[in-house]
Amino acid sequence: MRVCIVGASGKLGRYMVRHALDRGYEVVGVCREKSVEKLDEFEGRITIFPGATNDREVIRKAVAGCDGVLTVLVPWGIQDYSSGTAQAVLDFARPDARLVFSCGWHISMDGQDVYSRKSRWTVGVFGKLARLVRFADIDDQVEACRRIFASDARWTVVRGSDLEEGESQGLPVWSRHVGDPILASNLTRRVDFALFMVHALENDELIHEAPAIVGCRTPSALAHADREEE
Ligand SMILES: NC(=O)c1ccc[n+]([C@@H]2O[C@H](COP(=O)([O-])OP(=O)(O)OC[C@H]3O[C@@H](n4cnc5c(N)ncnc54)[C@H](OP(=O)(O)O)[C@@H]3O)[C@@H](O)[C@H]2O)c1
Repeated sequence: MRVCIVGASGKLGRYMVRHALDRGYEVVGVCREKSVEKLDEFEGRITIFPGATNDREVIRKAVAGCDGVLTVLVPWGIQDYSSGTAQAVLDFARPDARLVFSCGWHISMDGQDVYSRKSRWTVGVFGKLARLVRFADIDDQVEACRRIFASDARWTVVRGSDLEEGESQGLPVWSRHVGDPILASNLTRRVDFALFMVHALENDELIHEAPAIVGCRTPSALAHADREEE
């Protein structure tokens, strides 16, 4: 399988590169020119297309011939970075390619997610402040996902909980809606978020789903597993 990783130089991106190489995939990465050196550890094992991830020409070349595209959607800047990136991937990836996008729990596919008052407040305040100082545009990440959800492509949008570093604990568990008890712990190892993204490439049950994930060793995931066994 030939896989393109858009946003390969970030923390999530580099974990995805490692998982994809471990699976024997051929890996193509897109990252900003100034970040290419962050991929030095993979020299000779991956092909890099330097450039902004919303540069349509860069994406067109990078995704050519790829069976899967893993895209890190980030809201940085106020230049439609997320929606431009998502649109380019949707426009240029092969129609039968598996497309897997990352975002956070704050994205809702069907409006059925139930958020705590604290998380609503955090997203609201961060969103307004970030836009005010032109640092980030959360609404653009929402727009990116709206376009993905409306597309006929074979997509999955993986919604990450709060993240932490550390050794892998295994494939995260998931649920359709934030607020479901299994997700209550709201914590996933970043390495396992990446594992879920790469795993999704070959899991057709996740097509047209927006799984909200949580670490498989967290208390809420373990409590759910215990109830399933009873
Ligand atoms: N952080 C969290 O707590 C959290 C929680 C839930 C979900 N998520 C999701 O997880 C994914 C990865 O997020 P992350 O926080 O873990 O970060 P990350 O993996 O380190 O990725 C950050 C990405 O943003 C790029 N970037 C940074 N500054 C930029 C700028 N000014 N302009 C354009 N690109 C820029 C980085 O590229 P360079 O390498 O070129 O800098 C990198 O590809 C995202 O989809 C995010 O929504 C994160």
